[in-house]
Amino acid sequence: MQSDDLRSLTDTALPAIAAANAASLEELRVCLLGKNGRVTMLLKSLGGMDPEARKAAGALINLAKTQITDAISARRAVLDEQALAQRLAAERIDVTQPPRPDSTGVVHPLSRTQEELASIFATMGFAIAEGPDIESDWNNFSALNIPSHHPARAMMDTFYLEAPKNAPPPVLRTHTSPVQIRTMLEWAKTEGLGASPAPIRIIVPGRTFRADHDATHSPMFHQCEGLVIGEGITLGHLKGCLIDFLRGYFGIPELPVRLRSSYFPFTEPSMEVDIGWNRKTGELGGGADWLEIGGSGMVHPNVLANCGIDPRRFQGFAFGVGLERITMLKHGIADLRLFFESDVRWLRHYGASPLTQASLHEGI
Ligand code: DAH
Repeated sequence: MQSDDLRSLTDTALPAIAAANAASLEELRVCLLGKNGRVTMLLKSLGGMDPEARKAAGALINLAKTQITDAISARRAVLDEQALAQRLAAERIDVTQPPRPDSTGVVHPLSRTQEELASIFATMGFAIAEGPDIESDWNNFSALNIPSHHPARAMMDTFYLEAPKNAPPPVLRTHTSPVQIRTMLEWAKTEGLGASPAPIRIIVPGRTFRADHDATHSPMFHQCEGLVIGEGITLGHLKGCLIDFLRGYFGIPELPVRLRSSYFPFTEPSMEVDIGWNRKTGELGGGADWLEIGGSGMVHPNVLANCGIDPRRFQGFAFGVGLERITMLKHGIADLRLFFESDVRWLRHYGASPLTQASLHEGI
């Protein structure tokens, strides 16, 4: 065993290790340090030497072994680091990229309107209430002070469903007003029994149905009902609430709002809700013309009584607006049927980004 042999071993092994890739490094390790590796064989050969020579050769071989082992670990550390850096570069997430590609969907303008109403009325303490599309005759008509012979029934082109025996047929609800009844009945049984009950304050956005179809009517359309019941509720509250809602929704701080005397069976007094606009230019808020956008009134004592609420103690107001109507006015949409045609170009144009929140703070 010559020290020259050892030197030539390290002289070739160390540069090879320094230049190795992950696979060749493992091959080198096996060739040098493995069971039959060069260094291992050299160590084995020590057994046949006499003690003097073994001592000297042993020290040299072990030195070479340490050098080779260290060089392999150092090279492995470098290769590991390179591999990690490569992976990090390849799997890097660019957080400055837009979160969704342009081809994602948009929020339907009617859904957006519902979100906006929810947001506006939330600031006034209103919750959202819902009811089913199929209603009983009683909830949709009778409880709302529209008895069966009443002409108001004929005014609404109702879709009737098959009648159970000896009972009036259920209907596709013609308005969101039956949810007033559902809410008041529930309240009268629970909260209304207390000494100082929390008032009802709800809005009811939802689908409604009438047998009607033209540029401004669809057999399926949407309304939003509002209902407030409590002690000492006045027409002043109704007016203030409607003014705040309409000015917030249309984003016009001085929007003129007019309550015009009218008739609904379930309110007394009843009022149409008008907003100011310019008929010639179509501009909202300006001009001397008025545009009707909904109905309203003080809840009729008969309706309260029908729900088990004492009209001498509790009063309330209600209103109803057409969601297509206010959305068309806000965005200048001429034909109501477009809402339901599913024309993707139209939806993209009038739809809202799913990533923006409807809030008074961000601008409705
Ligand atoms: N339900 C009425 C309709 O569909 C709208 C309406 C008018 C609702 C007056 C109300 C109200 O709550 O007070 O034509």
